[in-house]
Amino acid sequence: MQGFLTIGLVVTAAIVPPAGAISVEHGSLRTDGLVSPLGLANTLPRLSWRPQSSTRNDNQTAYQVQVASSPSAIESPDLWDSGKVSSADVWARYAGHNLTSRDTGFWRVRIWDVWDKPSAWSEVDSFELGLLAPSDWKAHWITNRNYIPQGGTSLPVFARTFNLSFPADKARLYLLGLGQHAAYLNGQPVSDAVLAPGYSQTNRSLPYSTYDVTSLLQHGENFLGVELGKGVYDAEKPLDKRYADFYTTDNPLTLIAQLEIACRDGPVVTVVSDESWRTSVDGPQIESAWYGGEEYDARREFPGWPTTAVDTAASSWTDASIIDGPPVNGSLTADPGPPLRIVDRWKAKSVTRINDTTWVFDLGTNFAGWYNLTMRGEAGQRVVFWPGEYLTNGLVNQSSTGRPIFDGYTFAGRSPAEWYAPRFMYHGFRYLQVDNLTHPPAASDLEALVIRADNEAVGSFQSSSQLFNAIHGIIDRAIQSNMYSVLTDCPHREKSGWLEQDHLVYEPLARGFDIQAYARRMLDIVAASQLADGMIPTTAPEFKVFLGSLSVYRDEPNWGDTMILMPLQLYRTYGEVELLEKYYDVMVAYLDYLGSKSNGTYTLDYGLGDWITFDTSTPLGITATMGYQQSAAAMATIATVLGKTDDAARFSALNQNILRAFHEKFFDTTSNSSYGSGSQASNAIALDIGAVPAEYESAVLNMLVQSLVDNGYHFTVGEIALPSLFRALQAGGRDDVLFQTMSQTTNVSYGFQVTHGATSLWEDWDGVFRTTGSLNHWMLGYGDAWLLRLAGMQQAEGSTVWSQIDFRPRVLGDLTSASAKYRTVRGWASAEWTLHGNNRTLEYRVKVPVGSTARVFLDGDSRSITEGSAGLQGRRDILGLQQENGTTVVTIGSGSYSFVVRDYSR
Ligand SMILES: *[C@@H]1O[C@H](CO)[C@@H](O)[C@H](O)[C@H]1NC(C)=O
Ligand SMILES: *[C@@H]1O[C@H](CO)[C@@H](O)[C@H](O)[C@H]1NC(C)=O
Ligand SMILES: *[C@@H]1O[C@H](CO)[C@@H](O)[C@H](O)[C@H]1NC(C)=O
Ligand SMILES: *[C@@H]1O[C@H](CO)[C@@H](O)[C@H](O)[C@H]1NC(C)=O
Ligand SMILES: *[C@@H]1O[C@H](CO)[C@@H](O)[C@H](O)[C@H]1NC(C)=O
Ligand SMILES: *[C@@H]1O[C@H](CO)[C@@H](O)[C@H](O)[C@H]1NC(C)=O
Ligand SMILES: *[C@@H]1O[C@H](CO)[C@@H](O)[C@H](O)[C@H]1NC(C)=O
Ligand SMILES: *[C@@H]1O[C@H](CO)[C@@H](O)[C@H](O)[C@H]1NC(C)=O
Repeated sequence: MQGFLTIGLVVTAAIVPPAGAISVEHGSLRTDGLVSPLGLANTLPRLSWRPQSSTRNDNQTAYQVQVASSPSAIESPDLWDSGKVSSADVWARYAGHNLTSRDTGFWRVRIWDVWDKPSAWSEVDSFELGLLAPSDWKAHWITNRNYIPQGGTSLPVFARTFNLSFPADKARLYLLGLGQHAAYLNGQPVSDAVLAPGYSQTNRSLPYSTYDVTSLLQHGENFLGVELGKGVYDAEKPLDKRYADFYTTDNPLTLIAQLEIACRDGPVVTVVSDESWRTSVDGPQIESAWYGGEEYDARREFPGWPTTAVDTAASSWTDASIIDGPPVNGSLTADPGPPLRIVDRWKAKSVTRINDTTWVFDLGTNFAGWYNLTMRGEAGQRVVFWPGEYLTNGLVNQSSTGRPIFDGYTFAGRSPAEWYAPRFMYHGFRYLQVDNLTHPPAASDLEALVIRADNEAVGSFQSSSQLFNAIHGIIDRAIQSNMYSVLTDCPHREKSGWLEQDHLVYEPLARGFDIQAYARRMLDIVAASQLADGMIPTTAPEFKVFLGSLSVYRDEPNWGDTMILMPLQLYRTYGEVELLEKYYDVMVAYLDYLGSKSNGTYTLDYGLGDWITFDTSTPLGITATMGYQQSAAAMATIATVLGKTDDAARFSALNQNILRAFHEKFFDTTSNSSYGSGSQASNAIALDIGAVPAEYESAVLNMLVQSLVDNGYHFTVGEIALPSLFRALQAGGRDDVLFQTMSQTTNVSYGFQVTHGATSLWEDWDGVFRTTGSLNHWMLGYGDAWLLRLAGMQQAEGSTVWSQIDFRPRVLGDLTSASAKYRTVRGWASAEWTLHGNNRTLEYRVKVPVGSTARVFLDGDSRSITEGSAGLQGRRDILGLQQENGTTVVTIGSGSYSFVVRDYSR
């Protein structure tokens, strides 16, 4: 290695911190990635925690997990005591007494530090299993046979009153309403979860919810009410020609419910759905089209709903009918979540009067979820709501969302006001046009309700560039808008689980949100969508099947390969080797499927190409073969992790063959510096996948750079080649070129979107200037991964669960600061640099989680660098110090560090 110089001793036996400094972070206990989950289906859940320590260079050297069947038994745990296990893993797979339906585990953990001193016990957290066996269900599927779709009647509601003469210790409601359910007990919603159930692969599973309703029960008469919506399950032609992305046949709206109440000093009371339930189709909810919107007539609300005041003996109510079940072959499956919730609210920024009855609200940000308008009107007056992403002549234009999408609301005529919010569908919108509203509204009468899968937010980014911060903001908004029960493409037109973005934009997604539990649920759906020949369709669930001339939309290597690439990405983030084991056969079948399409040429030549690009010259084979190669390379790694050495050798050889074939097929031997059409996509992909022989690497990199320069530092790539472009330039040391490119505000660039009013990332690079194309798509979001790297913090190559971190501040262009935080499985990591121009000082503060090591790369001589109040030489709390090519490399263990580089020059 050139210019290599070891300055300090590389201290391997780290300086040991004072004993007793380690502890389990309060609130960090998770079961299968969830906080105190109910309704788990997994009898061997993964219990995890996050260590923290008040001193540097600490590590967890052992753990002990105890699980008891009640909180009081935790001192002498009756389910499992792992004993002291020597391990730095911050999780343990449950290995106690066999668990079965309804079992609850109360658990705690303690950990040992590098001195072998134990922490205190953590707080006690819990998990509970759902109903695991079909025989656990005593309930019946029930329906209302009087329901007539398309406004013939309202959507059915169901109710059951029951008596409780003992105080309840614990009550659980197991519920699945198809298409959607909203349940109430004695006037209160049973949960703050909304829009349940989530998507599932049709014909494979029926995901039911579990609710803790203990606190909602009352002595004496109780009222359980359930409203049904249609969801994606019943997408038959909606009322008044509302928009739909696709139609299904009329599926019967039906529910199954089982309420189990364990009483103090009394019996277990079970209330199940059956013919004793009362039902009505005369309620207020007339339509709930998943794509097109809702219709609600407040005059039809049942007096007293949803409390015991409702007169279910009235003539508009009948007995429920038992049916065999929904036209879905799947079995009932516990769905512990994470559920969709309202995660944020804000008031409208403005309201504009169009005329006496039409008003247009601006909510300020294009988002996904609901609105809530407080308003006044006469009984029988109907207002119509039109959500949209942009305005034309001041009115909502729905050409980017599918149309017409509208909600109708008929006033009951209550004073002083009524409110309306959708319930069984959601919108993607920034503006709301309200027609037929005669009482002038104020902007503050309208509220935005942001809905998404309630994955914990675990990351942040800030820099001195307002433009970069805004780019991060629109990508984050697009991710949140599509983080529904599966990751979707857009929140309005398709609401569909297109797969490619899940792996392409994985880094921005996973750096922003803890998706451990969420992704596991999603991968189950992707795996279940696999066809007999191994093909993984482009969308999961595959609601729309693209056949015939449209089959190019169904079978695409860079979409299907999510089934291989994402489990590996998740393994690197969360260490879940279980995912690799569980889906190994599915993954191998998909790789073999791709092989069957290559006819022994080791290349592929089909698919959608570099989707959404302006430069259509890139040969199809370049992107398709990349999908094949990425899959083969990932499978080689996965097989290695699983110890399947023969497979690993086979996949590794396959990868080499594909790379060779790629080079032979696409290298331009006239110029010896370019692939395919010479497009940015062609050369970026060739470099990124490692198909370029070493002797041509710098020539090809120069061609790529030249293309960006010739285009005034603008992309010509589409979605597939975009990550490759960033990675190839970064690997080639050309962050300077990326800085120029990311600073542009003319088309094509992220900055163009920001300066043209985008508040969420667009589907097309020039989104708003087209008449179609959503304004809330996250597929082009990879640029955020580069922004996150400005702070210089990333997991080191080959590391899992952030055991090794590289810190390398990117002091580029005129930036004067950048910071990023991320909560790893082991705890928080962060990096923040500031450049002081006045005295040419660079400050760099980093935080390393317990059990991780990091290398900090700082430009400059080690003698001009201090950490804390002292220089770097001779430090016993620093693990290593080297100097390479004018860069000082400091190796550190856990803790917070503050470096200062004097006489810093960019
Ligand atoms: C526990 O479950 C395992 C795996 O299903 C089974 O082999 C074993 O017999 C069970 N043990 C008991 C005590 O039921
Ligand atoms: C108000 O404007 C809307 C939108 O242009 C239009 O549909 C409606 O007919 C107008 N109403 C009146 C009373 O002019
Ligand atoms: C809508 O606003 C009203 C009035 O503030 C409130 O009572 C109601 O709970 C809100 N609904 C939702 C779904 O937020
Ligand atoms: C506006 O309200 C009136 C009743 O006040 C109703 O007749 C009319 O149909 C409504 N318009 C729309 C578009 O719903
Ligand atoms: C494999 O053969 C099929 C059928 O002849 C053809 O359509 C496809 O393009 C071939 N694939 C490659 C990679 O040559
Ligand atoms: C450099 O200037 C900044 C203020 O701009 C100050 O906070 C910092 O302490 C100074 N550093 C040195 C080494 O003088
Ligand atoms: C923590 O301990 C584990 C297991 O002994 C070891 O692999 C890891 O390198 C240690 N980490 C640090 C920072 O010492
Ligand atoms: C120093 O340069 C060599 C050769 O270019 C390179 O491999 C190495 O990564 C560089 N080291 C650092 C710390 O940048």
